[in-house]
Amino acid sequence: MKRVIVTGGAGFIGSNFILYELKKDPEIFIVNVDKLTYAGNLENLKEVENDPRYVFRQMDICDAEGVSALFDEFDIDTVINFAAESHVDRSISDPMVFIRTNVLGTATLLNIARDKWSDGNGGFREGVKFLQVSTDEVYGSLGPEGFFREDTPLDPHSPYSASKASADLIVKSYYDTFRMPVNITRCSNNYGPYQFPEKLIPLMINNCLNHRELPVYGDGLQIRDWLYVEDHCKAIDLVVREGEVGQVYNIGGHNERTNLFIVNSVISYIHDNQDETVDESLIRHVTDRKGHDRRYGIDPQKIHDALGWEPETMFENGIRKTIRWYLDNGEWIDGVVSGAYQKYYDEMYRGR
Ligand code: NAD
Ligand code: TYD
Repeated sequence: MKRVIVTGGAGFIGSNFILYELKKDPEIFIVNVDKLTYAGNLENLKEVENDPRYVFRQMDICDAEGVSALFDEFDIDTVINFAAESHVDRSISDPMVFIRTNVLGTATLLNIARDKWSDGNGGFREGVKFLQVSTDEVYGSLGPEGFFREDTPLDPHSPYSASKASADLIVKSYYDTFRMPVNITRCSNNYGPYQFPEKLIPLMINNCLNHRELPVYGDGLQIRDWLYVEDHCKAIDLVVREGEVGQVYNIGGHNERTNLFIVNSVISYIHDNQDETVDESLIRHVTDRKGHDRRYGIDPQKIHDALGWEPETMFENGIRKTIRWYLDNGEWIDGVVSGAYQKYYDEMYRGR
């Protein structure tokens, strides 16, 4: 991969990925294509904005003409599609934007890439790849035993996960039908710097810092399999460079925790390092999410065996680094929680 479109590069994982690649690969050239929805923030990329190996274009991935022109302008050989509406709760209140961006947007990118990368003989140019960043949520919910494997049947429940599963199937169809060089990665819940405070960990950190109640959905015993974002970036880098075309790779760290464990970890770090008045009394159990998946857990054996990937960040280290980052980057949080965020928070949590 030399000349890469990274979509959604102003979001949480996309911006961590761009920062990681520009540090790692002196030869790479990245075009960050992002619509800058509420979740996109160019502040994340301040340190690279003048790097000659990086350009930003504000664009919707559903804009076929615009995306097509970028392929010609930059002679793109790789697409890594992070762009998505990514928050389950928002997909419950407003599903259509998820269908549009996650399904139609992915199909638009894929179709343009197919056209631009054609070798004119029914095949594809050497060295091209389309990587779809997906989620373990496409597999649905686990009981107390077992893990998601790549051959676990898709069984999404929320409009978010259903839109991601739909996109995965379209990507798969381009491999099955046209033998287009694609990969799909499915990762578990990420955490780390630059995550928007609608997701569990940054929301709880922000609320602790503001002495706001900590809204735990239902009994708080739901389980997520947490993955430090930099470990995820390394896995994507490996898959895009070395992954066998047509393959799906699950990415997870065998790091399952209940939501209450996560919330208590945030409380205790902030209590010990920042503000002694923050304690468990801030926790409030609120009405559960509709259709809430109980447990996610990934079996990452395939990517380990095929590409030698394994997560390097122990949860205890990762969570400390993450909370420290939010404590040290108060201006970043202040920037993202102004205006529209307050309205979102009130609508989602008031009277819940
Ligand atoms: P995010 O919500 O932080 O960022 C999404 C980015 O996409 C934003 O910058 C936004 O502006 C951009 N975007 C949205 N709609 C767009 C459109 N129509 N055109 C162009 N850009 C658009 O999301 P994230 O947490 O960084 O997730 C990135 C990807 O990883 C997503 O595809 C998501 O489904 C997947 N994923 C995330 C997690 C996680 O824990 N965060 C876990 C599994 C999979
Ligand atoms: P979230 O970060 O939204 O990720 P996902 O739903 O994609 O797994 O939520 C993680 C877990 O935390 C999920 O079980 C829902 C729960 N949760 C709360 O209990 N309270 C909250 O305020 C939020 C945002 C999430």
